[in-house]
Amino acid sequence: LVIVLDFGGQYNQLVARRVRECNVYCEIYSYKTDIEKIKEMKPKGIILTGGPNSCYEEDSPTYSRELFELGIPVLGLCYGAQLMMHVLGGNVGRAEVREYGKTEVLIDKQDSKVFENVSTPTICWMSHFDAISQEAPGFEITAHTADCPVAAAENEAEGLYAIQFHPEVLHTVEGTKMINNFVKNVCGCAGDWKMDAFVEETIAAIREKVGNGKVLCALSGGVDSSVAAVMLSKAIGSQLTCVFVDHGLLRKNEGDEVEAVFGPEGHYDLNFIRVNAQERFYEKLAGVTEPEEKRKIIGEEFIRVFEEEAKKIGTVDFLVQGTIYPDVVESGLGGESAVIKSHHNVGGLPDYVDFKEIIEPLRDLFKDEVRKAGLELGIPERLVFRQPFPGPGLGIRIIGEITEEKVKIVQDADAIYREEMDAAGMNKIVGQYFAALTNMRSVGVMGDERTYDYAVALRAVNTIDFMTAESAEVPWEVLHRVTSRIVNEVNHVNRVFYDLTGKPPGTIEFE
Ligand code: XMP
Repeated sequence: LVIVLDFGGQYNQLVARRVRECNVYCEIYSYKTDIEKIKEMKPKGIILTGGPNSCYEEDSPTYSRELFELGIPVLGLCYGAQLMMHVLGGNVGRAEVREYGKTEVLIDKQDSKVFENVSTPTICWMSHFDAISQEAPGFEITAHTADCPVAAAENEAEGLYAIQFHPEVLHTVEGTKMINNFVKNVCGCAGDWKMDAFVEETIAAIREKVGNGKVLCALSGGVDSSVAAVMLSKAIGSQLTCVFVDHGLLRKNEGDEVEAVFGPEGHYDLNFIRVNAQERFYEKLAGVTEPEEKRKIIGEEFIRVFEEEAKKIGTVDFLVQGTIYPDVVESGLGGESAVIKSHHNVGGLPDYVDFKEIIEPLRDLFKDEVRKAGLELGIPERLVFRQPFPGPGLGIRIIGEITEEKVKIVQDADAIYREEMDAAGMNKIVGQYFAALTNMRSVGVMGDERTYDYAVALRAVNTIDFMTAESAEVPWEVLHRVTSRIVNEVNHVNRVFYDLTGKPPGTIEFE
């Protein structure tokens, strides 16, 4: 076991998943966790995450010196590194130059255990205002950058390692290697934990927990809820009922596709109920333009529809949710970090259905880990590698007010975009891509006539974990073909844009 102590950074779960990628089991705890509890867990290593505070300020998250004297190796990242230095007698202050983004790091100690086989210079992801100005006694500097004299420091004898940059972010090209080095070389972990073990253990745990109980699942047809549903179906078969709400904000033909896979003609042992609730959603959303309000309305209406179905079924014992980790963290429920967007499938499903407990089998996993679990479960690749689709659906891909007409426009444009991306083989290369409808109209000319119509935005991003992303390089010829087909085939569109923004500063969805 490796323990990750959460100091409120955005990338905390990434640290955990990098450790899991090394096939080492890992759990995240708040920095407020008592030292006695940590000792009881007998971890082989401890990693301190980044965080938004300045460690020298009063009231900033901290930890007692004892943590560093347990004889357990500690790796501090960013804030965690600064805190380690601060607590152990070094100095941390506001940096003269704020470093943000990809930065060249020079390794000064090639035989450092954490930098084994790491090249110098190596590209790392920096994001800090504060910096270590003086390493703590007993430490030596092991890496630096042009602007940051202490990019890494260590006290090898005590097993203490401080790294100012973020090895957990994939932009740090050799970051996974560094974390692997720490957990294997320094902590001595064996690395024998695997995804098939996770799937088997989860199914067995669900079976035991549920017993003869009845289970209800809200199925969206997306990867997460599909994997959760199949896991439950494998564990308890027809004790599971899946309710699929068509809120009228799905991609073109999606409702029928979901029904084909999970419905009575489909592959799985479960009860399937489809509810066509389009009209209700459009009515509730009429005139609403504010993104968070739209998300809330869709979320609440979804719950209301679901509740009505649940009432028909009667009392159930458990409710399943396909919540995955990024949903948890971005909704501000992931321990110490801040809210980015309220994801509609997280955050207190209220007590609207009569059930005992919520089951969230994927709550600790990232999207690609969910996919791996899906493959382990034998779910067809076509489903497992399906484009991610947000719970609020096209509702957050139509900027501004949602109308039935706009839904039709974005569905048709998106279908063309996906068709052409598939045909060009881009679906295998690009992480997520979709069309959105801007709420901008502009003047154009078509067949000698003036038009005043909508602009569609195309987005394509590459990302591994959906926490950070870069715009994808889609060939011009594909973009041209898509553009020309959209303006010709979709009514009320006379202009197409391609979005080049990364995440950060953009998010993947538009709202
Ligand atoms: P953002 O826009 O936050 O998206 O960069 C990151 C990933 O999450 C998906 N997403 C959602 N998924 N419910 C979901 O189930 C939501 O409310 C939601 N909002 C965004 C998005 O499609 C991307 O894959």
